[in-house]
Parts: sequence; C-alpha cells; structure tokens
Amino acid sequence: MFEKLKPLSVRATLAACVMAAGVGGVNAGETKVGLLLPYVGVYAALGNEIDAGFTLALEESGMAGDFVIVREDTEVKPPVGLAKARKLVLEDEVDVIVGIVSSGVLGAVRDFVDGAQVPLIVANAGNNDATGSRCSKYVARVSFSNAQINRPMGQWLYDSGVRTAYTMASDYAAGHQTMAAFSEAFIAAGGEIVGAEFTPFGKTKDFGPYLSKASAAKPDAIYVFYAGGEAISFVKQYASLGIKGDIPLYGSGFLTSPLYVAAEGPAAEGVVTGAHYAPTLDIPENNAFKAAFIAKTGKAPSEFAVQGYDAGRVLVEAVKSGASGREAIATAMSKVAYTGPRGALSIDPATNNVVQNIYVYETVAGDNGLTQKLIGQIDNVADAVNGCQF
Ligand code: PHB
Repeated sequence: MFEKLKPLSVRATLAACVMAAGVGGVNAGETKVGLLLPYVGVYAALGNEIDAGFTLALEESGMAGDFVIVREDTEVKPPVGLAKARKLVLEDEVDVIVGIVSSGVLGAVRDFVDGAQVPLIVANAGNNDATGSRCSKYVARVSFSNAQINRPMGQWLYDSGVRTAYTMASDYAAGHQTMAAFSEAFIAAGGEIVGAEFTPFGKTKDFGPYLSKASAAKPDAIYVFYAGGEAISFVKQYASLGIKGDIPLYGSGFLTSPLYVAAEGPAAEGVVTGAHYAPTLDIPENNAFKAAFIAKTGKAPSEFAVQGYDAGRVLVEAVKSGASGREAIATAMSKVAYTGPRGALSIDPATNNVVQNIYVYETVAGDNGLTQKLIGQIDNVADAVNGCQF
C-alpha cells in the first residue's frame, strides 16, 4: 500500500515491465481495480471488513486471477481520498475504483471520477447527492444512501408509538443527511423533534454533555447516527450515564453493527436500529455467505462485509457479461441484479443507487453474545430521484 520510493534504475526496470504487461500494468483480459478504503482512523475496522468481503467475492467467483488490486488508504480525510483517487486513475491507470466509506470522501471524489470517466462502485458512503443531484453514470452504489435507511425509520418509529424524538449525529455530511431524512419522515407522520445536536466528527470522546441535554428534553426516544469507534463510545456512555433506563435509543444500524457490537457489550441490549442487512436474516443466500465469510475470516459478517462482497459481485458480474475497460464496466455495473446475502438487490436505473429491503432489528443477548432480533422489514426501498439526471 505504501510502497517506498525505489532507486531510479529499479523504477525504470519496473516501468519497462509494466509497459510489457500492457496498459496500466495488466495483461489483456485483466481488470485493474483501485480499492479505496480507510485503513486507519475512526472507520478503519469498516475498511478492513469491506476489503475482506470484496476479496471473498472475487475468490468465490473463481476469477480472482483476472483482477489486479491496488489498495489505497483514504484515512477518512476528503483531501487524502481525492489525492488517492487521482493517483489510482492517473498513475495506476485502474479500470474501476471500489470502496469509499465516508460521505465526506465521496463528496470530494465524485467530480473527479465523473470527469475522468472512471467507474466507481461505492461500497459504503451514503452521501445522498452521489446518486441524487450529483449523480453520475460512472458512480453506482451497492451499499445504501443515508436517506434510504433513515426515511423509513422515521415512519417506523411513529408507527411504533414514538411521538417525540431528540436527534444526535456526527457533524459531517452523513450525520446531517441522516437526520434530515429521519426528521422529515417522522414529522410528516405526525411526530415532533424536540431537540437536535451535531457532535464534532471523529473528535468527540465525551458525549456526556450532549446526552445530558437530550435527557433533559425528556423525549420518547433518542435517534442517532454514529458509526465505528464513535458508535462504541456513544452506546457505552448512553448506558453508563443511566439514560438507558429512561429513554430508548434508536438509530441507523451502524450504531450497533455486528462488526463492533461486542465492544459495546450489554449497553447495546435493547437498542433498535434500521439497516439493509442483519446477519440473522434466515435466507439461503445469507446462510451460504455467512458460512463462507466465517470460513475465510473466523468471524461472522457485518453489513460492511456484505457491502464489500456485493461490490465484488457486481464487478464480477459486469466483467462476466463481457465488459472490459472503463466505459463498458460503467455501463454494465448498473444492470446487475441478483438475490444475495441481504435479499434482492438491483441498481435503480433512475439514480444508480441500490434498491433493497430495510430491516429493523433489536440487539439482544443470545447464546454466543449479542445478536440481532429482526422485528420489522420494509421491502424494496428505492431512494428518491433527488434531481438525478444522467
Ligand atoms: C458515511 O459517511 O456515509 C457513513 C460512514 C459510516 C457508516 C455509514 C455511513 O457506517
């Protein structure tokens, strides 16, 4: 990943080899992939999990040898993500970029890949605009959009009897878009938002003052967006401050992701979240995927593993359909549809965002630690077109 600069003579020899191998250092028939993920920082665990899922999909396809992978680290920083995307395209000459965890990084990279006409398969970042007002035929998303998960949750909370909610989220694009969608739907259903707070992203260690304010507003529920390391701190502090006994906690599934819910421990019990995947989903495609992921990594998969896996499968399916090179992959990736670990998955031709079910689950104690009890399902959720025009 961080190749040290080699002496000039070695670099010249390498360059000659690369040229002999063909454009971008790949042989005819090979596809060069830039895997652009965070491997350090608050979302490092998410990046590693997406990487594992992606690699599994390529291995399972029996075509792993047809792909050359170049990994780059976004460090969850938009300018770094953009610099790495430029490097992958201009120096490595990749055919396709896969990855991106943060909505902020996706916002920074979108214009570059669109202008360079390089397909990007988004494997996490939910930035609504990338498949809405700033959509591109070169950007397809297999994960979710921030509104896609949280708008249905607004209605779901109201239907479950919640009438007043206090919202809290990380202060960056994903937090703002999540809360806008949740609040709009909750208010439209008849609910009231009695307070809202955005906490500094990636820096907040002590959620105490924010949680005290939320508790003082006496809402029926607290609804939040936190993910990765922030989710672990938040859920633990929600319990240790004694708010758990008084006010129920809801959010998007990243709050209690199976990837790190064990680190939250009993504090996470009873928290209810909405997500596009739960490992307890009992369908043959998920059971097979879980077995394969456990065999590969020794642990059960999370939604991030599935997103990486489906990004890999969409790419494999596109290549299998005969697509080779940037333009052909961009066209083919939007046409892929199949039933996978999360159920039916297709790419919406109106936006290039994934169409999928949203599951509501409660985190409960199981025989082998915390598990996900499915308590609701909203079928075939497509995000609004939000001004997308290709
Ligand atoms: C995002 O920035 O879009 C984002 C990051 C982490 C998540 C979900 C969304 O778990």
